[in-house]
Amino acid sequence: MADIAAASSQDQTYKRIAVKPIAGALGAEIEGVDIAGGVDPEVFDEIYRAWLENNVIFFRGQSISPAQQIEFAKRFGDIHVHLFNKAMDDHPEITEILKTPEMKSNAGGRWHSDQMYTPVPAKATMLYSREIPEGRGDTMFSNMYLAYETLSEGMKASLQGLKAIHNGDSRNHPSGMTRMERVKAGSIHMPQIDPGKAQTISSHPVVRTHPETGRKLLYIGGHTERFEGWAEEESKPLLDYLKTHATRPEFVCRFHWTENAMAMWDNRCCQHFAINDYDGYQRRMHKIMVKGDAPF
Ligand code: SIN
Repeated sequence: MADIAAASSQDQTYKRIAVKPIAGALGAEIEGVDIAGGVDPEVFDEIYRAWLENNVIFFRGQSISPAQQIEFAKRFGDIHVHLFNKAMDDHPEITEILKTPEMKSNAGGRWHSDQMYTPVPAKATMLYSREIPEGRGDTMFSNMYLAYETLSEGMKASLQGLKAIHNGDSRNHPSGMTRMERVKAGSIHMPQIDPGKAQTISSHPVVRTHPETGRKLLYIGGHTERFEGWAEEESKPLLDYLKTHATRPEFVCRFHWTENAMAMWDNRCCQHFAINDYDGYQRRMHKIMVKGDAPF
């Protein structure tokens, strides 16, 4: 570990891990960690700090079981269970994201932040790659701190105090269909569950303060339908502008998966986008989310 830390030319403030940025905006690969071998508290503190500083971190070459993935996720907090996607039968903490060679659509193929439509959205998502089509199926991430900080002072002032409505199951999906309509049409493959009485439409501040870093960020995504108190038609032009602005190429990183790699992203300050460029190939991922706090 000492050698790896010494070899890191990027950041000498880490003693036990190496943190190597993959883009100017966000994202860093972490080296010097063997999750299966156990992560001691000092190493975990550095991982957590690297996560807050880089919005999304990546680990490669981690051969771990579902139980080990769950155990590592729990170091970040309690598990947040997806309201719509059915978990694995033997591991209720994990949802398997599978696209087989016959399937055309993928899960997560638009910019979004996980579970934004719940009153207390997931703070983190951990995604582990079990099968990857070589050279395809990358995931992109965008930095929502930068999206906010680069707005004009006039726009920042206009957004301050505004809330937005986020809907977990609406026809504003790129398909134009609800989840059940997509299931019936055969274009959603992940088994769905009825969320019952759980709240799946929520209102949150458009300018959110990260509870751990104290930084302000733009909190909108694919599930955002309109501003609170505004009609959809009134909201659309400004929302379209903000959604496009938030994913400008210089605010984005792109992670090129290899098998047994792990991404851990902060849903409070990132959006992500799963690229669907691998028709005819199989991709299989294990996803776990971690509970967050009510946005303010
Ligand atoms: C997701 O949106 O959570 C899936 C991301 C991916 O499969 O890359």
